[in-house]
Amino acid sequence: MNASAPIPVIAIDGPSSSGKGTVAAALARRLGFHYLDSGALYRLTALTVLKAGINPDDEAACEAAARAMQPVFKDGRIFLGKEDVTEAIRDEAVGLAASRVAALPAVRRALVDLQKSARRAPGLVADGRDMAAVIFPDAVLKVFLTATPEARAKRRYNQLIAKGISANLSDLTRDLAERDRRDRERKAAPCVPAEGARILDNSDMDAAQTLETVYEWYREIQASRP
Ligand code: DC
Repeated sequence: MNASAPIPVIAIDGPSSSGKGTVAAALARRLGFHYLDSGALYRLTALTVLKAGINPDDEAACEAAARAMQPVFKDGRIFLGKEDVTEAIRDEAVGLAASRVAALPAVRRALVDLQKSARRAPGLVADGRDMAAVIFPDAVLKVFLTATPEARAKRRYNQLIAKGISANLSDLTRDLAERDRRDRERKAAPCVPAEGARILDNSDMDAAQTLETVYEWYREIQASRP
């Protein structure tokens, strides 16, 4: 690698349950890169807000909560203070509140530095909604991963059942559609493909096939760079 070249970032954006978290984490492991799950930051903000009894539409209070929290990422676990919140932030109610706080521009601004600070040598794989368009516009590879709402709801259903959590497919499909609509239609960093992003619809692919596709794209880019 050229010593003066910027630290490479691979940005993987897409809607909920498109598999971007699984693929991004696996790709980071394969390349020996760091991994940023930016959705976790919005979920952490939502959890903090819900616990404090703050209204998730109160922009100033949510911004203050986002700026004050000091999450610690350690050995695949996420802590707020001494509390391990790894599972708590995956709760459906926290996910829905996350999509509300994520629509607030002040909250998005409050989380920018934390996200940028994840860019460390030898490289970063970042997943979210605006990794390519806003946080890392100079990413060497921009991927927009998507799948049909039915395929994504089914994946979410299978995940919950595997964890022993009871779930209802039609409720999940409805919640997913609601969250998609809010993420796509919001003014601040809507969840749409960034300019220059390669779009991958993985409705009929498993995680391993998706990973191979993205990995090959990165290898092609590496091979074509001086
Ligand atoms: O990817 P996820 O389901 O963990 O994300 C939780 C919420 O945060 C989701 O509603 C979209 C939002 N989000 C965002 O607006 N920007 C990001 N970079 C990541 C997530």
